[in-house]
Amino acid sequence: MARKISVIGAGNVGASLAQRLVEKDFADIVLLDIIEGLPQGKALDIYQSSPITGFSSKLTGTNDYRDTTGSDVVIITSGIGRKPGMTRDELLEINVKIVSGVTQNVAAYSPDCIIIIVTNPVDTMTCLALKVSGFTPKRVVGLSGVLDSARFSSFIADELDVPPGDVSSFVLGEHGKNMVVIPRLATVNGKPIAELLSAEAIKRLVKRTINGGAEIVGLLKVGSAFYAPAAAAARMVETIIQDKKEVMPCAAWLQGEYGIKDVVIGVLVKLGRNGIEEIVEFNSTSEERKALQNSAEAVRKLVKSINLL
Ligand code: LAC
Repeated sequence: MARKISVIGAGNVGASLAQRLVEKDFADIVLLDIIEGLPQGKALDIYQSSPITGFSSKLTGTNDYRDTTGSDVVIITSGIGRKPGMTRDELLEINVKIVSGVTQNVAAYSPDCIIIIVTNPVDTMTCLALKVSGFTPKRVVGLSGVLDSARFSSFIADELDVPPGDVSSFVLGEHGKNMVVIPRLATVNGKPIAELLSAEAIKRLVKRTINGGAEIVGLLKVGSAFYAPAAAAARMVETIIQDKKEVMPCAAWLQGEYGIKDVVIGVLVKLGRNGIEEIVEFNSTSEERKALQNSAEAVRKLVKSINLL
């Protein structure tokens, strides 16, 4: 039987993600939204590109959760996005209601799926989805570090005029202002960036990374980033669906790692068919651990504010 992936929310991130996934041709894709006609129209439009791009997987646009039945992976992108000047946290109240309702449906129709949360504030929304779904923490993971690291790596590549694929970096912690960018782990073809860039340049790129989403919101004015977020989510889905067991930074429920417990932040995880196969702890400095713990406390505060824990 073909693998099945459902994308909930047919906005910019959801539709862009559905396109990237169907073009990979490794699973049938369902695109669901509550707005009538929207997922159907976008799915039809994407489908009509298949003779050109050559994919043959099925793509269904729907308003009915029954069409998502038995999905292997479900990505939740539903919710409102950021407007200029708005922080991710201000989205909280409205997105709590949306993500709770969506997660109930997802868990009811695909009780064995892996859930990937994209909706912001993503660390808090991942805690919420865990609680509402009743799934084990292995099966609920949030999109954060793959996107934030891609931003950091792209800025490094641009600064040094090297191919982006030569750069490797890890951004952990909260997907928000308490993001933990770790320049020590950033390399270009294995060479630490400290040997290639001045301390001032690294500081500037770290700052730009933390502000990465807001920079795009400021430019677009009517919405937030979606091409890079969709690419990042697609990468996570691919690793899970193909059981690649690649290690990447994602938002995950911690149970003692880095001295942090019972909250979600971005850490290095091994992703595979079972979702989070392992949380991979790297040798952190005391300063890095402290930054991760600060991040965790910021998320915990938000989670408490919605009476979740
Ligand atoms: C961003 C949003 C998706 O970082 O949080 O662009």
